[in-house]
Amino acid sequence: MHDEAISSEQYETFDDIESTDDPLSRRGFVKLGMMLVGTAYAGAIGYPVYRYLATPVTRAAGASAVTEVALPDAQSLEAGSAMMFRFGTRPSMLIHHTDGSWACFDAVCTHLGCTVQFEPQKNRIYCACHGGVYDMKTGDAVAGPPPRGLKVYVVEVSDAEVVVSRA
Ligand code: FES
Repeated sequence: MHDEAISSEQYETFDDIESTDDPLSRRGFVKLGMMLVGTAYAGAIGYPVYRYLATPVTRAAGASAVTEVALPDAQSLEAGSAMMFRFGTRPSMLIHHTDGSWACFDAVCTHLGCTVQFEPQKNRIYCACHGGVYDMKTGDAVAGPPPRGLKVYVVEVSDAEVVVSRA
């Protein structure tokens, strides 16, 4: 019977053989795989966190950076209708009233931030979230929970476009 224990020197020798510099060794391949998985996890977790933290800053920067928006062909918007567009990062609403006048508002409800909509048949701007009502010509809050009116933009109409800008 040959009962011989493996010495620690033999283990070291075995490890040395496994950890050769061969890039295609099993150990190297597993390390590479673990690094890739770790990087993927870091990205999967880190990117949403980055987005969550950066969003208010990005929004504020985007909202304040834009001071004027040109809307080509908006001058042909039919009277009694409205169009939605983005003023920077903000949803906004351009209204061409039946009397020929124009109005433009930030379309974010001042209550809890839902997007408002133009309801020409009821002569109002309405927020469906909690029934907020705004005056369609001034943007003033006239009913429901909104604490104040909509932000008003200046409207300039030319033959080629409508330009809206901060007041
Ligand atoms: S969010 Fe518009 S009324 Fe509440």
